Amino acid sequence: MLRALAITTSLLVSSALAWQSPYADCQLPRPQGQQLSLCPNGTLYVSQTDPQAGYGSISSAIAALPNDSSNHTILVGPGSYHEVLNVTRKGPLTILGITHDPADYTANLVHVWNSSYINQTTQTSSQDNADAVVLTVSPNRAASLVGSGPLGAPLQPEFGCSDFKMYNIDVANRATINGVEHKTSDTGPSAALFVAYANASFYGCTFASYQDTLYVGRNGSAVFSGGEVRGSTDYIYGFGTAYFEGTTLASRGIGGGITAWKGSTQWYGPNTFGVYFRDSKIVAAPDPIPNVTLTHNCALGRPWNNQSRVVYMDTDMSDIVNPQGFIIWSASDPRVFPNVTFFIESGSRGPGWNPSSRNYSIESSIPASQAKAQYSLSDVFGGFPSWVDSTYVYN
Ligand SMILES: *[C@@H]1O[C@H](CO)[C@@H](O)[C@H](O)[C@H]1NC(C)=O
Ligand SMILES: *[C@@H]1O[C@H](CO)[C@@H](O)[C@H](O)[C@H]1NC(C)=O
Ligand SMILES: *[C@@H]1O[C@H](CO)[C@@H](O)[C@H](O)[C@H]1NC(C)=O
Ligand SMILES: *[C@@H]1O[C@H](CO)[C@@H](O)[C@H](O)[C@H]1NC(C)=O
Ligand SMILES: *[C@@H]1O[C@H](CO)[C@@H](O)[C@H](O)[C@H]1NC(C)=O
Ligand SMILES: *[C@@H]1O[C@H](CO)[C@@H](O)[C@H](O)[C@H]1NC(C)=O
Ligand SMILES: *[C@@H]1O[C@H](CO)[C@@H](O)[C@H](O)[C@H]1NC(C)=O
Ligand SMILES: *[C@@H]1O[C@H](CO)[C@@H](O)[C@H](O)[C@H]1NC(C)=O
Ligand SMILES: *[C@@H]1O[C@H](CO)[C@@H](O)[C@H](O)[C@H]1NC(C)=O
Ligand SMILES: *[C@@H]1O[C@H](CO)[C@@H](O)[C@H](O)[C@H]1NC(C)=O
Ligand SMILES: *[C@@H]1O[C@H](CO)[C@@H](O)[C@H](O)[C@H]1NC(C)=O
Ligand SMILES: *[C@@H]1O[C@H](CO)[C@@H](O)[C@H](O)[C@H]1NC(C)=O
Repeated sequence: MLRALAITTSLLVSSALAWQSPYADCQLPRPQGQQLSLCPNGTLYVSQTDPQAGYGSISSAIAALPNDSSNHTILVGPGSYHEVLNVTRKGPLTILGITHDPADYTANLVHVWNSSYINQTTQTSSQDNADAVVLTVSPNRAASLVGSGPLGAPLQPEFGCSDFKMYNIDVANRATINGVEHKTSDTGPSAALFVAYANASFYGCTFASYQDTLYVGRNGSAVFSGGEVRGSTDYIYGFGTAYFEGTTLASRGIGGGITAWKGSTQWYGPNTFGVYFRDSKIVAAPDPIPNVTLTHNCALGRPWNNQSRVVYMDTDMSDIVNPQGFIIWSASDPRVFPNVTFFIESGSRGPGWNPSSRNYSIESSIPASQAKAQYSLSDVFGGFPSWVDSTYVYN
């Protein structure tokens, strides 16, 4: 995951790209008829143009997989796929986007999108944020529900995918109204990604929407290496465990915080719920909602409940970051309880790091050495997760 590790490893192998991930050779575009030659045996191939492909849509390839513990790979050719993807199977699944450069997410050639959103004005009690999502990794709808109340949706008996991986795919919820991308904050929850009751990791992938772009919910664990998350209101939220390394957080608007996390001390053993960022950067999205002033207005997070846990490590912060850093939920309902609400910064840098303006009654600033010792990937997941690719390198 880390560049230094990759450079060392690259000296040991001859192929120029093999060190970027176990799948880099499979992902490189090949002459017609040869695309699968360097892919894992049994790889399903999706393409809108290549006659060699067995599937024209990603969802039809997913539907063709057995619902068991067997391990599968799907390779997706360049194109724009207007689809909703649900991964409900238990066994390992890897979805690869064909690309010239797996390390550079800006070169991604595979785009998946849909446009559904929840209208919070007309939302009924049977509707949930889970009903307007582009990619869901979760065993069933009940397990993916955000739900209400301090603990969210009720506990489910079943665990979904034990090891979902995705490389170099852009996932966007365009939240359009009558066919026009709305670019305002009034569409409501419109997620690109949901992960719940599943272990999932993403390499050089991007997730874009407006409100509530990315959700890691109950019994969900997710790791993001490289890539980008783009959104406006509370755009990274949840109550599972999410760990981001080398990810660009691109704000399109100023609602809520970049993060809104909910916690419970009752939920996990060694796995520590919360959202963690390392070596990441916070920037203004190139396509912000019109007429918002991002500068100084993007809070690092606000507490969805008072057991919220958010840690930023070695992160580059542009001037869009609110000088106070983290904020309360709202004036009438602050949801802050000292030392229970757990907001940490360590090694922040850039114009958005204002050590004298931060609200230290909400957050703590700790030394980089302490953060490294307490909040590494292994610390957070109770050992290095077996379902994470440690060899992937991002630019
Ligand atoms: C699944 O298959 C891939 C490709 O063959 C392999 O690299 C990976 O280790 C397998 N994963 C599991 C959990 O068996
Ligand atoms: C690939 O899979 C096919 C059938 O699934 C099998 O017959 C073949 O032996 C496998 N090849 C390798 C190299 O594992
Ligand atoms: C995609 O979004 C549209 C709304 O734009 C929705 O009507 C449609 O049902 C969604 N597709 C799926 C498969 O859910
Ligand atoms: C796979 O099986 C689980 C039950 O074990 C179920 O919840 C899930 O919906 C199934 N997925 C598919 C695609 O049938
Ligand atoms: C899967 O997709 C459909 C929309 O096509 C949605 O209604 C359903 O709740 C989704 N989620 C799960 C986890 O199956
Ligand atoms: C924390 O929030 C819960 C509800 O989520 C509430 O019952 C409890 O009183 C709060 N505690 C404090 C100290 O604010
Ligand atoms: C996570 O899922 C497993 C398997 O379904 C279940 O035993 C466990 O209670 C769940 N844990 C939480 C915190 O939901
Ligand atoms: C999911 O990941 C957690 C943390 O790494 C691990 O404890 C758990 O066993 C994994 N679950 C499955 C079903 O692989
Ligand atoms: C939400 O519903 C209200 C009431 O029907 C409507 O006025 C509004 O335009 C809807 N908003 C969106 C973004 O669809
Ligand atoms: C943005 O501001 C300009 C100038 O005040 C105004 O003309 C325009 O209608 C505004 N656009 C939106 C979407 O509010
Ligand atoms: C919070 O923790 C700090 C450092 O451990 C301690 O000094 C402080 O007294 C604690 N505050 C509360 C309200 O427990
Ligand atoms: C700092 O946080 C406290 C809650 O601990 C809150 O009451 C206060 O309003 C915050 N300060 C500012 C300037 O927002």
